[in-house]
Amino acid sequence: MTAPHTPSAWWRSAVVYQVYPRSFADGNGDGIGDIAGLRARLPYLADLGIDALWINPWYPSPMKDAGYDVADYRAIEPLFGTLAEAEALLHEAHALGLKVLLDIVPNHCSDQHVWFQQALRAAPGSPERDRFVFRPGKGVNGDTPPNDWVSEFGGPAWTRTTNADGQPGDWYLRIFAPEQPDFNWDNPDVLAEFETTLRFWFDRGVDGFRIDVAHGLVKAAGLPDVGPRSLPAHEDAHHPHWDLPGVHAIYRAWRKIADSYADPRIFVAEAWVHPGDRLARYVRNDELHTAFNFDYLVAPWRAEQLRASITGTLAAHAQVGAPATWVLSNHDVAREVSRYARPQTAAPLRWLDDLLSQPADFALGLQRARAASLLMLALPGGAYIYQGEELGLPEVEDLPDAVLQDPMFAQTGRKSRGRDGCRVPIPWEGAQPHFGFSPPTSAPPWLPQPAAWAALSVSAQSGVAGSTLSLYRQALQLRRSDIGLGGYGLQWLPSPEGTLVFSRGSGFVCMVNVSAEPLALPAGAKVLLNSGALDAQGRVPADTAVWLQTE
Ligand code: GLC
Repeated sequence: MTAPHTPSAWWRSAVVYQVYPRSFADGNGDGIGDIAGLRARLPYLADLGIDALWINPWYPSPMKDAGYDVADYRAIEPLFGTLAEAEALLHEAHALGLKVLLDIVPNHCSDQHVWFQQALRAAPGSPERDRFVFRPGKGVNGDTPPNDWVSEFGGPAWTRTTNADGQPGDWYLRIFAPEQPDFNWDNPDVLAEFETTLRFWFDRGVDGFRIDVAHGLVKAAGLPDVGPRSLPAHEDAHHPHWDLPGVHAIYRAWRKIADSYADPRIFVAEAWVHPGDRLARYVRNDELHTAFNFDYLVAPWRAEQLRASITGTLAAHAQVGAPATWVLSNHDVAREVSRYARPQTAAPLRWLDDLLSQPADFALGLQRARAASLLMLALPGGAYIYQGEELGLPEVEDLPDAVLQDPMFAQTGRKSRGRDGCRVPIPWEGAQPHFGFSPPTSAPPWLPQPAAWAALSVSAQSGVAGSTLSLYRQALQLRRSDIGLGGYGLQWLPSPEGTLVFSRGSGFVCMVNVSAEPLALPAGAKVLLNSGALDAQGRVPADTAVWLQTE
């Protein structure tokens, strides 16, 4: 039986911290973060005031896409540790009151996954090949891909195989890197295999999963060409491989598994779909619990766009009784300090490539990012914090070509700088790299940290009034107190153009000034927290947010 979206369930208003394990903390000194490092830093996370962690893929992987090419879904990548360490981590996190979400990657696996290796050895038309999407090529020699689909990382979405006799063979579909073959979700083996994987981790106490590319699993029958289209893929309701209605049956089945546990487990969808009512379909009562709201992530720092995104999201989620899930950044997008450092035109900003040609004011970017975090944490629903966001880390925009590892860089013929700039290891302490990321004498971090990050390290900001880390700690502490941030109501209050002012609960007010004009506080309001200094008249200056208790 499906447990309804219980009003009091923890996940409805949880703050989840995203741990990108290879960049969080390195316990064994090889320059790559691991489970030992994460375990040692759990007290930091508990102290920050979050409710749960989401750990990016930690499964055995050839790392062609930083672990999103999974070779074995029910084991731990040796670079990160062992299954026993993973179990110890779960136990320790739970003891600290933290839930743990993992990342499940159902759209594709690694080309080293045993099934894909079997499929390559098997004949065209075999059951082994039917677990993936193999097709003959077009043209006289079959040397043209089966259709016109393109990879998310650049180039065609198909790779040709070689037959046992050395002759070119069929092609396989891979929407991402060539080493990430797409599964065929019409094949019952695939369904059964993922259900086994969910149970494997749930049985070990995992509290839920983030679902990678949740809108991609099902492909249109006959694999029709995309052809010329007027809408971008994530807005196109008739795209042949994004957001097909068939995905929902899969998630209904997964929900039943999650609900079969005495302590029901939860899901969060990574689904880049637009508009909000399409996203809301993923969080219907018998489907997934939550879904990232990426419209909000890419919204520029402009009052009218932020307000429209908030209002639209809340309305769409209310239709299905699900809470919204707010997020400002993750391991796939340029960090918000650097996005907000750029001129904020109406166009959404997502990748580092969108930013590089624009002038930057990083102090302004940080000021806006701090205000954005108070706005996000005051909204009804859940929120995700990407590691380093609480330190105000910027994107690292000048990583040398030689260290770039994201397949986007190579697959676009080095045109895209990819996503490595938001994946640089966390600075914990000390005056120079590796900033306590690794034990004292260790290999250098897998991506170099900027020297200027000394001032942004956890120890440099801890206990420092006004630091970004202190701001997050205070905000998270207040959010857990009784100031009125539980519940789902949000009421917009009249306010000048370029500002966002709303109340929650009884007497809590959030004011965000996105305009150039200072914004006066309501009479008698008590300031609970502010993202930056108020002006000499006690008003909220540009690019600043305040939390207030009013009468
Ligand atoms: C998701 C992940 C991203 C990965 C891609 C392919 O978008 O967040 O990092 O490259 O899926 O698995």
